[in-house]
Amino acid sequence: MRSAKDFFRPLAVGAPAPLREVPFRPSRMIHFFDPGNERMAAKVPALVPRVDVLLGNLEDAVPADRKEAARAGLVRIARATDFGDTQLWTRINSLDSPWALDDLLTLVTGIGDKLDVVMVPKVEGAQDIHYVDRLLAQLEARAVRDGLPVRRPVLVHAILETAAGVANVEEIAAASPRMQGISLGPADLAASRRMKTTRVGGGHPGYLVRADPTAPDAPRATFQQDLWHYTIARMVDACAAHGILPYYGPFGDIQDVTACEDQFRNAFLLGCVGAWTLHPVQIAIAQRVFSPAPAEVAWARRVIGAMGDGTGAVMIDGKMQDDATYKQCLVVAGLADTLAA
Ligand code: GLV
Ligand code: MG
Repeated sequence: MRSAKDFFRPLAVGAPAPLREVPFRPSRMIHFFDPGNERMAAKVPALVPRVDVLLGNLEDAVPADRKEAARAGLVRIARATDFGDTQLWTRINSLDSPWALDDLLTLVTGIGDKLDVVMVPKVEGAQDIHYVDRLLAQLEARAVRDGLPVRRPVLVHAILETAAGVANVEEIAAASPRMQGISLGPADLAASRRMKTTRVGGGHPGYLVRADPTAPDAPRATFQQDLWHYTIARMVDACAAHGILPYYGPFGDIQDVTACEDQFRNAFLLGCVGAWTLHPVQIAIAQRVFSPAPAEVAWARRVIGAMGDGTGAVMIDGKMQDDATYKQCLVVAGLADTLAA
């Protein structure tokens, strides 16, 4: 039987080559679908070539009386679909719900050979990850014993969507070698923190800073602030420190593609590698935003070329480059290379 030591561990984009134990698998968009919805399920084969990750959602947005149908639908779809290079993930129900145990039991023994990652909602601390980790180990051992197909250990992804989870984000990131990454869950997090918003992610017109009336450029400029900056930055630091991947979560205003792109780009610039897509219109946005722009890549390659062994300093177009900018450029060029591979 495999031991925990055999778990492969995807490392942060741009990690130095010797640390990259396994090929990085792109996950720019984690595309959500409801496996109990026949119409949506029928579209899955056509979605496969367009997305990096397909996620069968069993949790919020699936009504209580359709949980079993969604779970059974996911098993059916997984068995019938060739996912090629696209990853198959699921979001199970929360660990204090009546469904989570059966979600894991059914999916790991039923489609453990197809399932790449289990997303766990409302994670509050390392204990939640330990629980899922041990349960997965039992179920994988059972599958091996019973001769069921097991491809490799299923990985774990936590949603950061409770105040306790944010307080414990470091220990969550470090809780298991199965940890693949963490997503921001802005809707539940807003409720947990008692924020006075009613949206799924994105900004708020009331959250702004107004220039002081004595500022020289009066009339007074106002700037809307990013409600999620603090949490994303904390999440990115925890993920980078523990070699796992950070993601922005959902953006609920499907029609506002401009604001969606802005929110995704803020997350990308801060270090996130992807976001959830809730509607096909968001797929192209995530693909564009989470792939480095060709001009940025060309600049990064120029700096890398000019820096030789990566030490010292050079001037390029009037801008100082040194060991630190060389490393930033390796991140950008490295991401372009891994996405192109
Ligand atoms: C996602 O699950 C969220 O709560 O934003
Ligand atoms: Mg949520």
